[in-house]
This record gives sequence, structure tokens and C-alpha cells, in this order.
Amino acid sequence: MSRLLLLDSGVGGLTVAANITEQLPKVSIDYVADNGFYPYGTKTEQALFLRLTEIISTLSDTRDYQAIVIACNSASTLVLDRLRAKFTVPIIGVVPAIKPAALASRARVIGLLATEATVRGQYVEQLIRTFAADCRVIKVASQTLVELAERKLHGDQYDIEQVLSIAAPFAAEGVDVVVLGCTHFPWFREELAAAFPQITWVDSGAAIARRVQSILQSSEHSPTLMLPEFRLYYSGEAYPATMAQRFAATLQPLRLEKSQH
Ligand code: DGL
Repeated sequence: MSRLLLLDSGVGGLTVAANITEQLPKVSIDYVADNGFYPYGTKTEQALFLRLTEIISTLSDTRDYQAIVIACNSASTLVLDRLRAKFTVPIIGVVPAIKPAALASRARVIGLLATEATVRGQYVEQLIRTFAADCRVIKVASQTLVELAERKLHGDQYDIEQVLSIAAPFAAEGVDVVVLGCTHFPWFREELAAAFPQITWVDSGAAIARRVQSILQSSEHSPTLMLPEFRLYYSGEAYPATMAQRFAATLQPLRLEKSQH
């Protein structure tokens, strides 16, 4: 059976997991919500590299993974190359969908909604230079929106007007396509699309699922009749059981040896 390891600081990568299980319903997933180190979007490259190395090493000691998905734009844009150099298992990163956004934009004004780490990083600048050189790019960094997505998924109260006000600059600037460049943000896609119907909201979830599919097809794994498993690990405060039920997952605490970062 094919098993994947997905990592994020919290509930964001579950939007990626949803795309993967939709395209690949037989794949098992170990999902790490690294809430003991949340948020990722304000961390340095070195801190994220050490933390992700520790998590991947810890879990890979106990289970075999056919691929690892860094289901987080912040970590992928900062440390993907270093993680690939360190581990032999294929590692797939999630990076902002600048290219599809530029291809789709008629106004040639696109938006990027992401974390602080992603917006200030060199990786995004390079993506823009390569794929959207003729577009004006309006960038909005918001850690608040990450927190609001956490609240929504935990079933806590959040103010939808606050969500919409974070996205308001895009409408004011005449943007017609916005990249949801943080995996937490597709949790608000419906609300954003309803409030700003003139804007198309794009993310990388479906493209990541296709990438996973092509890697699993090329790796050797025998067909199985076993049912796929979904494990939800948390590293900090215990996730509510309702979260596991919502994703039909078993809930597991993740204990890290060092946790020095
Ligand atoms: N979901 C992550 C991302 O895609 C990180 C959010 C955070 O922890 O700041 O960037």
C-alpha cells in the first residue's frame, strides 16, 4: 500500500490532503499538524529546516513513505531544496500558483495572499520574474488569516468580516486572479468567492495531487486490498477528537526527541 507523509503547522495541509485523497482514494496518509511549532509563516529558514528534519527523521524511523509532501508554502519556499538534499525519499513541495494565475489573468493584475515568510522570500520573487513578469502583483501577507483558518477548523468563533477585510485590497486594486499562497487559505475559498465574485481564487492543491500520482506510478508498490488509513499527528496541544472524526482519521500524539528550536 502507498503511504504518504504530509506536514504543515496545523490544519492548512488538510486542504492538500483533500485534493490527494480525491484523486488517489487508495493512498494512506500520515498527516502532521505541527501545532507545537505553529505558526511556520514567521519562522526562519534554519528553524524550519531543523524542525522538519526532526519530524521527518522521527516518523521515517517507524514507517516507510513512498513520498513526503511539505503541505505548506512557507516551509516549501524556504527549505525544500535542503530537505531534498538530506532525504532519499521523493519530497514534493507546495509553492504559490503564480504561473496558473498569470496565465488566467486578463487584467494582468494578480494577487498573492500568503504568510509573511512566503511573501518576503526570494522564491516567490523568482516565480514572479519567471512567470508573471508582465503582471502587476499585489501581495498581502497575513498571519491573522492563518489563525482564523485554525479557528474555523477547530470549530471556534471567528469573524468572517475580518477574513473579507484582509482580502479587500485585491478588489480595490482591480486584481482578477488571486493566488491562495498558504495552504490554510482554501478553507475560506467559498466565502471569498461569494464576497468577491469578480476574482478567481487559485491554489496548488490539484497540481500537487497530480504530482503525487505520477511519483507513486513510477515507484514500485504492490496492489493491495487493504483499506487506506489516515493518521492525524499533533505535536502540541491535543487536537479535538471532532477534528479526527471530520477527516475519518486516527489521532496520534507526535513526540519529538529534541525539540530544541
Ligand atoms: N499553511 C502554511 C503555509 O502554507 C503555514 C501557515 C503558518 O503556520 O504560518 O504557508
